[in-house]
Amino acid sequence: MILNERIEHKGNAFPSKVIDFKKDVDTLYFHSENGVILQMTVLRDSMLRFRFTTDAKFEPDFSYAIAKEAVKGYNKLEITEDIEKYIVTTSKLICYISKEDLRTRIYDAIDETLISEDELGFHWEESYELGGNIVKMTKSSPTGESFYGLGDKPEHTNLKGKRFQNWATDSYAFGRNTDPIYKAIPFYTAIQNKKAYGVFFDNSFRSHFDFCSERRNVTSFWAEGGEMNYYFIYGPKMQDVVASYTNLTGAPELPPLWALGYHQCKWSYYPESNVKEITQKFRDLQIPCDAIYLDIDYMEGFRCFTWSKEYFPEPKRMVKELADDGFKTVVIIDPGIKIDMEYDVFREGLEKDYFCRRADGPYMKGKVWPGECYFPDFTKPEVREWWATLFQGLIEDIGVKGVWNDMNEPAVMDVPGKSFPDDVRHDYDGNPCSHRKAHNIYGMQMAKATYKGLKKYNYPLRPFVITRSAYSGTQRYTSTWLGDNVATWEHLWIANVQAQRMAMSGFSFVGSDIGGFAQQPNGELYARWIQLGIFHPFCRTHSSGDHGDQEPWTFGQEITDVVRKFIEIRYQLLPYLYTSFYKYIEEGIPMLKSLVLFDQEDAQTHHRTDEFLAGEHILACPIGEPNAKGRRMYIPRGNWYNYWNHEMVEGGREMWVDADIDSMPVFVKEGAIIPKYPIQQYVGEKNIDQLTLDVYYKSGKEESSVYEDANDGYDYTKGRFSLRHFTVNGKEDKLTIKQHKSGTFITEYETFKINLIGLPFQIKTVRVDNEDINLDDVKVGHRVLEITKNFNQLEVLA
Ligand code: NOJ
Repeated sequence: MILNERIEHKGNAFPSKVIDFKKDVDTLYFHSENGVILQMTVLRDSMLRFRFTTDAKFEPDFSYAIAKEAVKGYNKLEITEDIEKYIVTTSKLICYISKEDLRTRIYDAIDETLISEDELGFHWEESYELGGNIVKMTKSSPTGESFYGLGDKPEHTNLKGKRFQNWATDSYAFGRNTDPIYKAIPFYTAIQNKKAYGVFFDNSFRSHFDFCSERRNVTSFWAEGGEMNYYFIYGPKMQDVVASYTNLTGAPELPPLWALGYHQCKWSYYPESNVKEITQKFRDLQIPCDAIYLDIDYMEGFRCFTWSKEYFPEPKRMVKELADDGFKTVVIIDPGIKIDMEYDVFREGLEKDYFCRRADGPYMKGKVWPGECYFPDFTKPEVREWWATLFQGLIEDIGVKGVWNDMNEPAVMDVPGKSFPDDVRHDYDGNPCSHRKAHNIYGMQMAKATYKGLKKYNYPLRPFVITRSAYSGTQRYTSTWLGDNVATWEHLWIANVQAQRMAMSGFSFVGSDIGGFAQQPNGELYARWIQLGIFHPFCRTHSSGDHGDQEPWTFGQEITDVVRKFIEIRYQLLPYLYTSFYKYIEEGIPMLKSLVLFDQEDAQTHHRTDEFLAGEHILACPIGEPNAKGRRMYIPRGNWYNYWNHEMVEGGREMWVDADIDSMPVFVKEGAIIPKYPIQQYVGEKNIDQLTLDVYYKSGKEESSVYEDANDGYDYTKGRFSLRHFTVNGKEDKLTIKQHKSGTFITEYETFKINLIGLPFQIKTVRVDNEDINLDDVKVGHRVLEITKNFNQLEVLA
């Protein structure tokens, strides 16, 4: 093997010749002459971790991102060497490590194609000013390689040709291309030769990624401190890369089902009478809604964990009344604690020394909504414990059901950099460091502490948290929204790509501020945004309130009707959405799939931004401009049914799809079974006495599943769930649906209503579990059956 000739880069240092090699179970150590050590761990056959030190010794191994439950284990690990290199072989990968300079090359072990190759490989630059190294990695990137991921970047789904940085930043009214914004998720997937691999650079310092922007055929990533520490994750399917990354950094628990309902928010609904007016209007107009949010004005002078006596004199009563009407109350909690000796949270934090300090000792003081504040050091375990206890009042006593963590980048007003200065100290779970290292994980640790509080005081029900800032792994604790967007058509596009990107970055429980946070949408934009939003895992309208109202009824009767229609569809699809959540937590399958994730073999998908799959089988594409009667869109390969008129279209091509204001391009994959509930005004309003199954005929086989449980609580972790696995098999004169049920939860409905869509024959015979059934007993319409038995096999014959 001849590696590329090393290019001299001024100021950079490189590993030198390897002089020693050791193996310790799954970890290999390659020592080079100049003190560089490469520690390579084989986590799985398809996952390798590369970690470098330049000081002949590693610092303690600590990461906030990696989940305790991450699966480890491989089938094969073989190490050989020749004169130039070490060769590490697993059942999926072959990795060459150059004895000259530790550069690596990685091949698919099965067909031996090259997947990734270091260009300069690992190198570094000492930073005298900051202390430590700027650690760098460059890899060769063949023409045709595409890149995806990196969290919330408001950019084209394919990141090729661009450069980004990760530094969580409060970005009011950010725009397309603003970088960085709220989140820091240093994980990307690349596709070359239709094979996908991922790189997770687990380094919480400010990090940078360059995807062939500076140099055409080079991809690089570097960080302003810390270690070169990255995971190489092989697919070759992109979905497997994302699933492995999600497993590595952790999936969340199931949220309560109501959290998948529609949520209404504004900065701010107050006083109580206003909150009641809003919630009443939802019920009067019969627009389903499950959650109402209280922004900062519910507090007394913006002091977290307090209630404004003037606006909310009896919060417990109000929250109970709202709950009686099906509304869950979600309240905002920010990290800044007002400096006020009369305020018990502040006093306690001060007494216990829980606030962050500057390098030389004074507390980190910064201005946020309440004025001057101190900020808890959420990177210290005792502080997180304390923070969790603060929720007792809100959750256990008052009955609040969810908490919204905002401003946790952390955001500070009127200062350069809009955040803490670099010298601020953090505990970092016993690895003391400056803010340079802790900045990107501050919001994550706040969300974790909040989650712990909710879990403690809401138990045995499930917690619901939403955060603005996040680092890799934050999805274990919370949902997220995409920050302060703007009511423009461009932002509708941004919301769409951001949500897809978050999902392919392991964080599926995501949604945008529907309608836009800043400014006010017109009715048409709001309706089009709701149409997109109902397919996002988290579905909430939120606005700054400065520019006018933003409720479903704000824009006149026609828009109200459109909005209701789409929110009703979301409520019908709840079992479908819940099932895709289940698949996300169990298998790491993203709830939203960009077309490239759905069909990477089709090169057409590598550059699409607008179309996406919600769950396994629904293809959606928002209308992104005013006055549209439809749009052109790309239908991925395969056959699809138009959701509205059931016409079948053949994919693998672009086509025009009609979609007037009361419609939107939506398709269902042939062979799919889409489960539906009756429309409810909120989760639990009705007993579900029938499950509707929309069965989309296919000539051939297709699998679907339906996950259900008690909608809340933890019994599902003990097997008290119902997982129906369906196989549809269509022939010219026969359709068979096989059902296999697992789990011990007994669903309360006794009938299935089965809509046979696209069935190419007249039904003459229906057979349930091999027994012919009297047609009059089951046939309620032309192609609609009602089956009372919990069938294992249903056959419909011509
Ligand atoms: C900024 C948040 O992004 C926004 O959603 C919220 O309404 C305001 N802060 C006020 O709390």
